Amino acid sequence: MSTVVRLTGVTKEYAGGVRALDGVDLIIGQGELLAIAGPSGSGKSTLLHIVGTLDRPSAGTVEIAGHDVASLSDRRLSALRSQHIGFVFQAFHLVPGVSARDNVAEGLLYSGLSRARRRSLAADALARVGLADRMKHRPHELSGGQKQRVAIARAVVGEPDLLLADEPTGALDSASGEAVMELLHDLNREGATIAVITHDTEIAAGLPRQVRIRDGRVVADTARGKVAA
Ligand SMILES: Nc1ncnc2c1ncn2[C@@H]1O[C@H](COP(=O)(O)OP(=O)(O)OP(=O)(O)O)[C@@H](O)[C@H]1O
Ligand SMILES: [Mg+2]
Repeated sequence: MSTVVRLTGVTKEYAGGVRALDGVDLIIGQGELLAIAGPSGSGKSTLLHIVGTLDRPSAGTVEIAGHDVASLSDRRLSALRSQHIGFVFQAFHLVPGVSARDNVAEGLLYSGLSRARRRSLAADALARVGLADRMKHRPHELSGGQKQRVAIARAVVGEPDLLLADEPTGALDSASGEAVMELLHDLNREGATIAVITHDTEIAAGLPRQVRIRDGRVVADTARGKVAA
């Protein structure tokens, strides 16, 4: 199994002295599907941002597909990100005043595809999350769970190699949550490596690997010892 993500001794201190991550070692192999769990404020979103190269660590090293992130310029890093990584943010981050379809198509902005092709793929992705009948709705015209599904469609529309999802089922009822997890399992079977932050112990238990974070440290990892270092 080749290594997609390798964090070594990763520490993140925010201004004001909050140490959100404290010496995290984490290896994610190609094709894994893992849950990241832990109490509120334990550092899960911070970890996901660092794995996704949206943020750089205060100390330690981050390697993505063999590239040491510290050695890449911001430009190379954003190219790597837009080509290979999809995000579902905890707070959705949809563009206000823009239709669901164009929000999803935005996930393909740097793909080099034509606008017509981007919009056609966006329509397919929305259909996949059960929103075929909400293409033209703008974010303020959608329910919380629907916004969450648009955010998921946007993250998966470019078929990223690495999908990072922060509470993708947090605003969903159990049936929609199951549909989203089913979609993530499908994408994983198709080859995507996926990390999902979740508070839902049932969802976490249903994934092949669970990593538990507390006070910025990895305190349990069901794959510890199983993944080659
Ligand atoms: N930009 C920031 N500046 C300062 N402190 C921050 C910042 N972002 C997060 N923190 C702090 O870092 C710690 C970890 O935050 P993080 O958002 O990673 O937690 P989390 O595990 O995702 O929590 P939740 O489950 O509530 O989403 C928290 O104590 C938080 O207050
Ligand atoms: Mg969070």
